[in-house]
Amino acid sequence: MTLRFPETGQFTALNKPVRMEYDIRELSVEGTIPAAINGAFFRAVPDPAYPPLHDNDIVLSGDGMVSRFLIEDGHVDCAIRYVHTHRFLAERAARRALFGRYRNPFTDDASVAGVDRTVANTTPVWHAGRLFMTKEDGRPYEINPHTLETVGRYDFAGRLRSETMTAHVRIDPDTQEMFFYGYEAGGLCTRDIAYCIADPDGNLVSEQWFEAPYCAMTHDFAITQKYALFPIFPTVADLERIKSGGPHWGHVQDLESWVGMMPRSGSVKEMRWFKGPPGVHAYHVMNAFDDGDQVHLDLCLSETNAFPFIRSDSNIAREQWEIGGGFIRWTLDLKEGSNVVKASPLGPPGDLPRVRDADQGKPYRVAWYLTVDPKAGPPLPGGPVGAAMNCLLRIEPATGRIDSLSMPFGWAINEPVHVPPSAGSKGDGWLVAVVDEQRGDDFHSQLWIIDATDVAAGPVAKVLLPIRQRPQVHGWWVPLEQLNHSKVGGVPARR
Ligand SMILES: [Fe+2]
Repeated sequence: MTLRFPETGQFTALNKPVRMEYDIRELSVEGTIPAAINGAFFRAVPDPAYPPLHDNDIVLSGDGMVSRFLIEDGHVDCAIRYVHTHRFLAERAARRALFGRYRNPFTDDASVAGVDRTVANTTPVWHAGRLFMTKEDGRPYEINPHTLETVGRYDFAGRLRSETMTAHVRIDPDTQEMFFYGYEAGGLCTRDIAYCIADPDGNLVSEQWFEAPYCAMTHDFAITQKYALFPIFPTVADLERIKSGGPHWGHVQDLESWVGMMPRSGSVKEMRWFKGPPGVHAYHVMNAFDDGDQVHLDLCLSETNAFPFIRSDSNIAREQWEIGGGFIRWTLDLKEGSNVVKASPLGPPGDLPRVRDADQGKPYRVAWYLTVDPKAGPPLPGGPVGAAMNCLLRIEPATGRIDSLSMPFGWAINEPVHVPPSAGSKGDGWLVAVVDEQRGDDFHSQLWIIDATDVAAGPVAKVLLPIRQRPQVHGWWVPLEQLNHSKVGGVPARR
């Protein structure tokens, strides 16, 4: 049997499938890994186990792999395994792809009607000592953080009613509550959003449903100390279009955007809707915080949807480099009578934002995100958008100070995780990210450790990887003391 993947940008260059599960102890390290960095860097890596049913398939349909770099006393081990979703197991048994177009069950092989379609490929989420692989179109899968084996599909001990859970949860750094939501909670193309809270022990203690203004791709949200914020952008689903075999999403350039805001521990009946500009879209929220009578929501905003396949499906003729946007603050004024967001620029366009975990939902001094620096050469072809990021930014929103680390020509950088500094030491801590280098037609990957205070100085240590990494989506840092107190299936687990 010859496996033939499409010769499209979604399956070539950096996006060429790797499809390898491995466990490598002791990687080669150049430089010295700071003592503060002891823990596990979990990453979500889509990698299709089988050639897709349709040649126009996309990276986002790739089977989820959970990758782990374990960093301990200057030593680094790595491992990666497929998430055994119901979909992965069905296709493995059949030895071929059975699921069709991205988020369209009407294009699937009849043999898998009703089988969970999610590929759990977006974010590894760590909460209450447990690891989950998530994707917004389904429920999460629990993973054994030590073996990377799949425990099973997770529904909070049968309590979760929503059919979906976001890949972008928010954890309050003081209470350790996990705030999250699921959209299309009641099924395909429903306007239902389930807003949920899990207590510090991981018990689902609240699930309230409300209706969005329309069924939108709702990829991220935010909390402040007081509020939960639900940004809604006009990338919308259409059931008839899906039933006819068409795309799940269409971006509507003249449709308004919205932000729903409610007390984060209150009732969805208290939801207040603020209007934003039409046509804009943000995949990721940097952070949000309360400021007297105002609430600030800081977004990586684009003038239209950043994914080429969605623009193409929506007849929006805009090339990637023609899309304006920026790191933008939307301010919601709580005083009576105002229901329109006020936008103010904070920084250049970019995405994959990161704040310190301790700053979640609070005023923050420093943050990091990725962008494309045209001076560093054309971006490497790869990643979900088709053009990989090549520049790391450090920004202080209050002062406007920006520092940057542009990758060398022919290199790309994936979303970093942030590691806090050692207790008592000054500085912003560390960033850990996988970077990729093109050499001829080949690609090589490294893990870089970067001083989060001085990103321009470049990596303080490099970990050399013997196997090319397919581009990740998101990652999560778990300190060693938390990893050592993990649970699997709800019971304590030893390493
Ligand atoms: Fe995301």
